[in-house]
Amino acid sequence: MRTVRTQRLDADDAGIARAAALLRAGRLVAFGTETVYGLGADAAQPQAIEAVFAAKGRPRHNPLIAHVADSDAAFRQVRETPLARLLADAFWPGPLTLVLPARADSTVCAAAAAGLATLAVRVPSGTVAQGLLRALDRPVAAPSANPSGRVSPSEAAHVLEGLAGRIDAVLDCGPCAVGLESTVLELSGGQATLLRPGGIAAEAIEALLAARGVPALRLPAPGAYAAPASPGMLASHYAPTLPLRLDAAGTGPDEALLAFGPALPGAGLTWNLSPDGDLAQAASRLFAGLRWLDTHGLRLGLLRIAVMPIPSRGLGLAMRDRLQRAAAPRAPFPGAPFPGTPVLERIGA
Ligand code: TXA
Ligand code: MG
Repeated sequence: MRTVRTQRLDADDAGIARAAALLRAGRLVAFGTETVYGLGADAAQPQAIEAVFAAKGRPRHNPLIAHVADSDAAFRQVRETPLARLLADAFWPGPLTLVLPARADSTVCAAAAAGLATLAVRVPSGTVAQGLLRALDRPVAAPSANPSGRVSPSEAAHVLEGLAGRIDAVLDCGPCAVGLESTVLELSGGQATLLRPGGIAAEAIEALLAARGVPALRLPAPGAYAAPASPGMLASHYAPTLPLRLDAAGTGPDEALLAFGPALPGAGLTWNLSPDGDLAQAASRLFAGLRWLDTHGLRLGLLRIAVMPIPSRGLGLAMRDRLQRAAAPRAPFPGAPFPGTPVLERIGA
């Protein structure tokens, strides 16, 4: 892979204009959204999309989300349905991604959609992301701006830790407000299926559907996030270097503690997601906390990260999902398949 000097751009008018010019020229620019930083590329340019997969070490069969400035731009790329319009009106701009059949005249190249007939579209709400998408006026493909399998970035410094030298620029938008990736819904047959829990709580989607008399949200089997049938079926993602131990009821001096609510005593190192047990605050601090405990825990010679129980309601469902993946058995090297298991889950790279 070629090495480039990665520029850090201020998120002012000049920085946004520079970022847009780089994207137009087929270069890679990471930018902050309300969820996490995305690694952006012009979705119409196959060579730019290939560079995204290469920079992340991401399997080519895992499709990217096309980011656009508003729902009109989204429905120029995918086929609009009444259910899609209902969800778009309620939650866009915001942390929701909709998977719909791509339109025949979609400008998103086949490589970005991994050759699928469907396309994932999202309208982010961050003001800088909005400014960038409006300046560019075309879809931007943007996976989370981390090496595949590692913890997602919620600050510009996290992007540089993982991708400096592999991307052209990062637009520094400060810390991401939500801190967890978007909720991904697949819409077919007039019903929504939750593919990835995320920044819009499933309960909020369910309430909207119930109020409009639309078929209920299809959820994974009960307990799928809390206790996967076979840990080997969960591809390792969001993974720090230290192993994770979930739902810890106690801890000790050889562990780094990811606390939620009043912290357990006795850990070698503690990061509290939210002393008051506030799920939105905890979500916004999750990825930074995993990185901090990993860096300092390794330095102190600690053995693992113990995670206190997090409820599976609201944003807790998405937090539990990311933590389950972070705790899943590791591939022998990043991005490698697990012996005897599917190469990668479709959701979550
Ligand atoms: O919040 C987010 O969604 C962030 C920010 C940058 O927008 N992006 C993000 O992208 O998380 P990524 O690539 O890390 O995750 C996108 C997920 C992947 O699990 C991918 O498999 C799924 O969306 N996806 C994309 N296109 C799809 C499609 N056509 N069908 C099913 N799943 C799809
Ligand atoms: Mg990702």
